[in-house]
Amino acid sequence: MKEFKIGLLGLGNIGTGTYKTLEMNRASIEAELGAEVKIVSILEKDTERERDINVTKDQFVSDIEDITGNPEIDIVIELLGGIEPASTFMEKALLAGKHVVTANKAAVAASWERLHEAAKKGGAMLKFEASVGGGIPVLTAITGALRANEFEEVMGIVNGTTNYILYNMTAKGMDYATVLKDAQAKGFAEADPTADVEGIDAANKLSILMALMFDKHVHPTEIPTKGISDITADDIAAADREDCVIKLIAHAVRTDNGIEYSVGPMNIKKSHPLAGVNGEFNAVYVKGNVVGELMFYGPGAGPLPTGSAVMGDVMEICKAVSR
Ligand code: HSE
Repeated sequence: MKEFKIGLLGLGNIGTGTYKTLEMNRASIEAELGAEVKIVSILEKDTERERDINVTKDQFVSDIEDITGNPEIDIVIELLGGIEPASTFMEKALLAGKHVVTANKAAVAASWERLHEAAKKGGAMLKFEASVGGGIPVLTAITGALRANEFEEVMGIVNGTTNYILYNMTAKGMDYATVLKDAQAKGFAEADPTADVEGIDAANKLSILMALMFDKHVHPTEIPTKGISDITADDIAAADREDCVIKLIAHAVRTDNGIEYSVGPMNIKKSHPLAGVNGEFNAVYVKGNVVGELMFYGPGAGPLPTGSAVMGDVMEICKAVSR
């Protein structure tokens, strides 16, 4: 039976969720592919941490060369997070002809040209469905089933932390600092929540959406971005008087002057489908000139939803190279 060998970069929460996805559904995944799928090497410093998966010490490596230089490895899954060294490691893997799957929105958005160039040079595929909207298959939809459209607009609630905070401020009348503390205690918000609450994470995701929908890559630092850290209970009440809720929206729209784009808090009419996206959920609302309006909704973060999208990309690669 054919075997696909995988090198995994990073066995943190998302790496563990991806590993678990393969463990949970190995039988159906391998039956569908007609091939075995093995995570043979894992680049990870923390080899001692208790993880609820069957991983053995001999799978761990400490040098990226053990993966990018291993001719047996077909696919590299990058789940380190951060722009570097993740971008350099992915570039190396692609140039070595290894297909790459990643959930790393910061690296994909910042290193867009470099990674796509390396994929072209190496004759390898680069896939990143999990980087926007976690488990929601929105990138696959806009690059596949919706490709016959010219896109007119995208509005995304693409950051779970900020949506959780704004939702709780709105529904429970809590103030920003109290909800943030609560979100951190429940593990929804990072210990350092800056990238989420200041809109940087959403800007990374908008950069990726725009590159795919409008064929226009804008570096995330070039996207006008405002976060939610100065939203007050008064702002929420003022929005409510206008029959609106405040949401952090990643927005891009085609205008006569080109594509306009920004990330920031917006008043959304309560009748709009995005207004009902509550808690840590994500949604991406798109308008295509043929299909009309669509909204993709679901879990935008978390180990298993993200693992689901990562393994979906891995399977697509396995199928493509088997044809
Ligand atoms: N910190 C991100 C969020 C994780 O809150 O949505 C998923 O990209």
